[in-house]
Amino acid sequence: MIELDALRSQAESCTACRLAETRTNVVFGVGRPDSTLMFVGEAPGRNEDLQGEPFVGAAGQLLNRLLAEVGIPRETVYIANVLKCRPPGNRDPQPDEIDACKGYLRQQIRLIRPRVVVTLGNFATKLLLNTTAGITRLRGTAYPWWLGSTLIPTFHPAAALRGGPRVLDQMREDFALMRRTLDSAAEAEPPPTPAPEPYQATLWG
Ligand code: URA
Repeated sequence: MIELDALRSQAESCTACRLAETRTNVVFGVGRPDSTLMFVGEAPGRNEDLQGEPFVGAAGQLLNRLLAEVGIPRETVYIANVLKCRPPGNRDPQPDEIDACKGYLRQQIRLIRPRVVVTLGNFATKLLLNTTAGITRLRGTAYPWWLGSTLIPTFHPAAALRGGPRVLDQMREDFALMRRTLDSAAEAEPPPTPAPEPYQATLWG
């Protein structure tokens, strides 16, 4: 898609925050620009920074496995992060970095127009739902969201790698909810009407 390619070029020369000084590659996003399903993670890690693709390390392997378990190949989805550049040492994204970067994510979502957006972990969930509530409280529910989509928050795969089977089981529940939501969105014609308040109006604060 031409507009998405143009946005990628713009991001690749971005110097809007300090992370431009330490990155190897801008990690813009990967996948099908016409996908009905989009994942939003936190920020590139070391492997992602080196390869220029999101979720290629251990967390990415788990994401691929959870997708495969609900019958969805990674190649058919779109994957992006809140931050397009790696924070040094994988520290948390800083508020000014998120502010500087969130316009790229907003445009990606607007251009791809997925039916279902899955946020992985606290940073993506708090930004897109414009909330301070934590992922443990928010997960397990499908939220009507922007542009008629549905947002499903779940844990970050790295949390499941650290947190063990309980977190993994909850992620499996959330992926099953995602699959059901996608299936019913595919049946629903015409496309859903714009999301009701509060998620639409408050988006991107
Ligand atoms: N963690 C993320 O949040 N994103 C990646 O791309 C990799 C690890």
